[in-house]
Amino acid sequence: MTSIPRAGVIGNPISHSLSPKLHSYWLKRYGIEGEYTALQVSEDALESTLRDLPKQGFIGANVTLPHKVSVMQFADQITDRATLIGAANTLIFKEDGRIFADNTDGYGFMANVRQGAPDWDPKAGPAAIFGAGGAARAIIVALADAGVPEIIIANRTRPKAEALRADFGARVRVVDWVQADQMLDGANTVINTTSLGMVGAQEFKVSLDALSKDAVVTDIVYNPLRTPFLKAAEAKGARTVDGLGMLLHQGVPGFERWFGKRPEVDDATRAAVLA
Ligand code: ATR
Repeated sequence: MTSIPRAGVIGNPISHSLSPKLHSYWLKRYGIEGEYTALQVSEDALESTLRDLPKQGFIGANVTLPHKVSVMQFADQITDRATLIGAANTLIFKEDGRIFADNTDGYGFMANVRQGAPDWDPKAGPAAIFGAGGAARAIIVALADAGVPEIIIANRTRPKAEALRADFGARVRVVDWVQADQMLDGANTVINTTSLGMVGAQEFKVSLDALSKDAVVTDIVYNPLRTPFLKAAEAKGARTVDGLGMLLHQGVPGFERWFGKRPEVDDATRAAVLA
């Protein structure tokens, strides 16, 4: 057994994950002896893997699809934000074998938009969100925490948006997917959390005619980096922030906890991950 601190990302499939590149880059950049690997784990093997990893020198892990929700049942301690979101993406294995679970997706979202649009004021007006999946949940929790006055959600499957309203209350308003373009009128922050626009997925077709040039617009899709949605927003004069930074920033709290150094997200980090 190695004494080098180890961490990794647990998912299924996992080969597409950029996290190994990101954390390995940071380890090298800061001269830290450590290892970060991709761990393909099926649902059936999730619990036994979590019990076994600490014995192999793992001090923590990231968790990605499809395990972000199910991993919660194996955690001994869960942060408030992970509880609110109902999912975890960052685990810390304590020396006594206990598992601490956090969710840093909302943090990653906020840090990315703040870095990409420094004068963004989330309190200045409503946020309009396309989509109501797991990523939308984390983003809603973060936006509510940042004091966004109103959160408007449109999702193809409306009941999923209604469920978010039931969980997060009066500040959330649901509009029909076919009327999604209308929620842009007066929106201060606009976010695509659907997979529309991703390489291999369907196009994002909602009209951005009602978008204000004062809005800040971001996409969680980062392949391609400049999605058609972001390009359309740019054409309307809005400030846009691509989605890669959300992935990079969500990795910061875990890396800091595991390896004792708060890593930077800058152009060099982006270049390393895109290489
Ligand atoms: P994540 O956890 O990354 O948010 P998800 O839970 O699968 O992933 O959510 C994907 C989102 O993209 C959902 O809001 C989904 O809408 P549905 O709830 O109706 O499935 C949205 N989405 C995916 N394909 C879509 C399409 N062709 N048109 C509109 N929305 C789509």
